[in-house]
Amino acid sequence: MSRERVEELTKLLNQYNKEYYVLDKPSVSDKEYDRLMQELIELESQFPELKSVTSPTVRIGGAVLEGFNKVEHEKPMLSLANAFNESDLRDFDSRVRKVSPQVTYVCELKIDGLAVTLHYRDGHFVQGATRGDGVVGEDISENLKTIQTIPLQIPYTNPLEVRGEVYMSKATLEKLNKQRAEKGEELFANPRNAAAGSLRQLDSKIAAKRELAMFCYSVPSAFELNCSTHEQSLQKIEELGFNVNSNREVCQSIDEVLAYIEKWSTARFDLPYEIDGIVIKVNQLEEQEKLGSTVKSPRWAIAYKFPAEEVETILKDIIFTVGRTGMVTPNAVLEPVRVAGTRVSRATLHNEDYVKERDIRIFDRVVIRKAGEIIPEVVKPVVDSRNGEEVPFQMIEECPRCGSHLVREVGEADHYCLNIDCPARIVESLCHFVSRDAMNIEGLGVKVVEQLYVNQLISNVADIYKLKKEQLLPLERMGEKKVSNLLTAIESSKQNSLEKLLFGLGIRHVGSKTAKVLAAHFETIEALMNATFEDFKVISEIGDVIANSILHYFSQEANLHLIQELKELQLNMTYTGIKSSSTEMNEFFGKTVVLTGTLTTLSRKEAGEQLEALGAKVSGSVSAKTDYLVAGEKSGSKLKKAQELGITILDEETMLKMMGR
Ligand code: IVH
Repeated sequence: MSRERVEELTKLLNQYNKEYYVLDKPSVSDKEYDRLMQELIELESQFPELKSVTSPTVRIGGAVLEGFNKVEHEKPMLSLANAFNESDLRDFDSRVRKVSPQVTYVCELKIDGLAVTLHYRDGHFVQGATRGDGVVGEDISENLKTIQTIPLQIPYTNPLEVRGEVYMSKATLEKLNKQRAEKGEELFANPRNAAAGSLRQLDSKIAAKRELAMFCYSVPSAFELNCSTHEQSLQKIEELGFNVNSNREVCQSIDEVLAYIEKWSTARFDLPYEIDGIVIKVNQLEEQEKLGSTVKSPRWAIAYKFPAEEVETILKDIIFTVGRTGMVTPNAVLEPVRVAGTRVSRATLHNEDYVKERDIRIFDRVVIRKAGEIIPEVVKPVVDSRNGEEVPFQMIEECPRCGSHLVREVGEADHYCLNIDCPARIVESLCHFVSRDAMNIEGLGVKVVEQLYVNQLISNVADIYKLKKEQLLPLERMGEKKVSNLLTAIESSKQNSLEKLLFGLGIRHVGSKTAKVLAAHFETIEALMNATFEDFKVISEIGDVIANSILHYFSQEANLHLIQELKELQLNMTYTGIKSSSTEMNEFFGKTVVLTGTLTTLSRKEAGEQLEALGAKVSGSVSAKTDYLVAGEKSGSKLKKAQELGITILDEETMLKMMGR
């Protein structure tokens, strides 16, 4: 009896919830809803065995965690390349049509929030995670369960992954910031920060109070839903109960895309939530597959960004900073002003030409904005506000830190300090080496690095590993505890996987993603150091520019010496991620493989990772480009499609044999 009532209440509450939050068509009063919810809460406390993990009562929150577990995404959560104007969009269209002349596009609002992914098994929500670095995110399931627009149960029993944006409405953000101001707490700069801050709460009751919502915008394995277009996949998940933004449009041409953008450039101010642009996606899933992705973003989609908010303030001074490459940048010191949610007192002026072309002067009233929503820049002076006291800009000729003569190469816009012993360059390189995506040594911030450098304890990255307790203790602000934590952090960084070190070395054009690709491919630093130009050719993510830069780096005596020294200091120089038995030519090397059905000795994810380690490209859908389909038990539509296309089909045993297991 109680069991039936619990089931009945669950069904009703889920239905009312969807009507209220997703369909915007409530069919019962709030009072009635609260009454049923209360009844369910009471029944569940009386009969705990009847409480399901996806019961509507979990929306209230309650679970308090100690921290968030890491989860590796089955498919990376990529970000999007940006377009800022019509010409960027037309270029995108030309690139797409070169490969896929017949495509249509889906235009969607770019919601300002936080990307998350949701997993369903047997019709139940089982896990949700943040994007994290795109490869590994954090398990925030408990907080996501409190979001009313996320269905906890769906009428679809196969495994399903759905991705989208968690956001906070304008009204909720305003209310929250007002409360925070009253309590003297820092305000959230934008809905994105507010959503992220709320999802990072360990106490799900707090997250529940933040009134977050979610729009779903992608199904990573849409082929499995028997869809051939992105739009169909959105309609399908909408039917399953997910909240999909209805302001999307299928466009036949780039001109229609431009008209959509034009419309939303003004209409956006009437929306109850913030958007920061428009996302344009190729509609045909097969064409998406054909276009593929770079390490960072798919080639079949682009984000048009609305122009950033601009505000005026006074430029009080111009100072110069030196980066780790020796690049010298002029920076504006500003009368502090709030822009796009935060207080700004410095802004970049990029380089000499930038300032001169705009005739930006000290004491000018200037327009500033945040480029890419993060880095403040000076846009232009307000010439009409001048009173004659403004001082024209003068580029410096000597390095502000070491005094060496600055060099500006012909055809280049930037000035460089070429002194490799310049203290500013050294400190910046050291800071890069210890930064989060590199060796991630906690306790070594800019101030401490500068302090250690000035005290002549470190002058290159190897010196970090030679630091002794006795050297650190006499320094200012260095207590026993701090020193011991720092030395422990340094010691444990020695175990980092190869990609961290590779990124930390600061090889030109080798960002953290590229470092990971290189580490996974070559596995050891020796293999990478011995690689020839041809060896890089087979790695799809590595272009000629990166290859040449790596070859150049390892041709320099000083760099080889540094690697040797780090090796002697016992730094790990191998990739400790998923290993391949060998990266030599094997039958999967360079091949596109699709996995389907249930495997018995390992999960699809594990198989995929091992295949990738052998140099295969693992894809989620079968197309003419597929070389092998690995079919486990209960293979469905993919197997059928592969058979139709005449693709080689492997069973699990054959796959393992070919892998050399
Ligand atoms: S599609 C591979 N669609 O914008 C495609 N993204 O850098 C993944 N976003 O990380 C994204 N609204 O957080 C897509 N309608 C939309 C979106 C959207 C907001 C965010 C998302 C993503 C970022 C793009």
